[in-house]
Amino acid sequence: MRKILKSLVIWSSLMLLFNACYNDNEYDLYPFSGAQCDSTNVSYSKTIVPITSANCNSCHSTSNPSGNVITDTWAGLSKVANNGKLWGGVNWEPGYVTMPNLGVKLSACDLGKIKNWINQGAPNN
Ligand code: HEC
Repeated sequence: MRKILKSLVIWSSLMLLFNACYNDNEYDLYPFSGAQCDSTNVSYSKTIVPITSANCNSCHSTSNPSGNVITDTWAGLSKVANNGKLWGGVNWEPGYVTMPNLGVKLSACDLGKIKNWINQGAPNN
């Protein structure tokens, strides 16, 4: 019984620690750093492509799409943009696999840009 309790305590502390580290992203630490961030003026080619090239395409290319998700074409990305999986993944919503997988959460600025593009209907512009 004591053993079980002890391992429970250790596990919960580890979970807390793990979560604490993972929540150390720009958005939580500096919620107002968005001041210099222009997330209003977004287009697929100028705003979204640089984000996916830097953070997603290594695992989600057309030739090797993890989880059958393609992020290096508009067709592939707009599909997950419109079915909720893109936002769920990058914003680490409950029930979605966190993206970038095993990586660091995107900055609040990048998240704002993605959100705005999704809200506009994920246009190919
Ligand atoms: C290190 C590799 C890796 C990177 C980088 C990565 N992904 Fe993923 N992604 C995966 C894997 C593996 C899966 C499948 C996970 C599963 O089904 O368990 C996945 C699944 C997804 C899904 C489907 C999630 C779901 O719940 O169905 C979406 C959407 C996604 N990724 C988007 C992205 C975006 C956007 C980026 C960049 C911000 C990104 N991924 C970066 C590996 C990666």
